Amino acid sequence: MQFALYRYFCGPSNILAVYKLFFKPLAFLFSPERAHHLTLAGLKTVLAIPIISSLFRAYYTVEDERLHRDVFGLTFKNPVGLAAGFDKDGQHYHAMSALGFGFIELGTVTPVAQAGNPQPRLFRLPADEALINRMGFNNEGMEALVRRLKAGRPKNLIIGGNIGKNKNTPNESAHLDYEKCFQALFPYVDYFVVNVSSPNTPNLRDLQEKEPLTRLLSLLQALNLEKPTQKPILLKIAPDLTDGQLNDIVDIVRETKISGVIATNTTISRENLNTSQQEISQIGMGGLSGQPVKDRSTEVIRYLHQKSDGQLKIIGVGGIGSPKDALEKIAAGASLVQVYSGLVYEGPGLIKQINQAILEAN
Ligand SMILES: Cc1cc2nc3c(=O)[nH]c(=O)nc-3n(C[C@H](O)[C@H](O)[C@H](O)COP(=O)(O)O)c2cc1C
Repeated sequence: MQFALYRYFCGPSNILAVYKLFFKPLAFLFSPERAHHLTLAGLKTVLAIPIISSLFRAYYTVEDERLHRDVFGLTFKNPVGLAAGFDKDGQHYHAMSALGFGFIELGTVTPVAQAGNPQPRLFRLPADEALINRMGFNNEGMEALVRRLKAGRPKNLIIGGNIGKNKNTPNESAHLDYEKCFQALFPYVDYFVVNVSSPNTPNLRDLQEKEPLTRLLSLLQALNLEKPTQKPILLKIAPDLTDGQLNDIVDIVRETKISGVIATNTTISRENLNTSQQEISQIGMGGLSGQPVKDRSTEVIRYLHQKSDGQLKIIGVGGIGSPKDALEKIAAGASLVQVYSGLVYEGPGLIKQINQAILEAN
């Protein structure tokens, strides 16, 4: 009887049903930001108990050599990662690592702690399985992240450091902020992501233009080359770039010899939504993620893959809410994928489902 109950609740698809039936309605009673913090605090507490952590790990992890990926000179145990913004300050990656991710990206972190935008700044659009956020790089600063990473990392888990600039730093000196974060995090992360694509820091996205971007990436690459061993540097881009800007990105990556691109961040577009226009207007500014960004993000991946003759290494992110969505991004040219909004709507069973689907598609 107990075994039957375990099998019912913990079967691969039923764990998603349990999340949707019990956990999600409960979490959705709270504001999105509060639900995020409560969930992570709960998970951290529960997973601090070694036996529970082992059970989670055993359930969620799909161990198979066929899932291993050698990308940017790193070996990922599976190609499914946690996208940036979920664990900005590195407070939860131990707990999140029990959910089967092959890699976790921390940040965006800035040199100095900053509060971000006033709340409310995170909104659910259930009719679109989407989120709108204008968090504004709320984070405790690079030193707090370094302190947590120094305290010890889970073995066999790749960790990325996503870096940005403080709100008060003008674009003319933004490179100094990226440099500070790069130097501070260098010993503690496996790869870097240069985030110039958040819509929630005024004028940040201007840094995606050819000239400032080439300068910024060249500087970071030069610093990288001064190290005894180099770390991969990736660029995270917006889904709202024109084809011309995407062509520039391919050229800049080639020229600066950075390791690849993360496509994509959230969009400022509000097209084709099921949510009412009135509600969208009430929410106001912010980046839209989840299902509505899925196709555009896949299109960007395909475009970059084709334009670079398959040479550009791409992490695909944006609207992955099912194994099919992840496989589409891989087919379009992504070597690895990441999820954020899909976790909110589908729950952590999604990671296992994607890994299993990748194995089946092998
Ligand atoms: C609440 C929230 C905060 C985010 N914060 C960051 C961030 O700090 N840095 C970043 O590069 N991306 C950030 N993102 C973007 C995600 O990493 C991801 O690129 C985007 O949400 C698209 O993926 P998704 O549709 O799976 O959510 C954030 C997204 C959300 C929803």
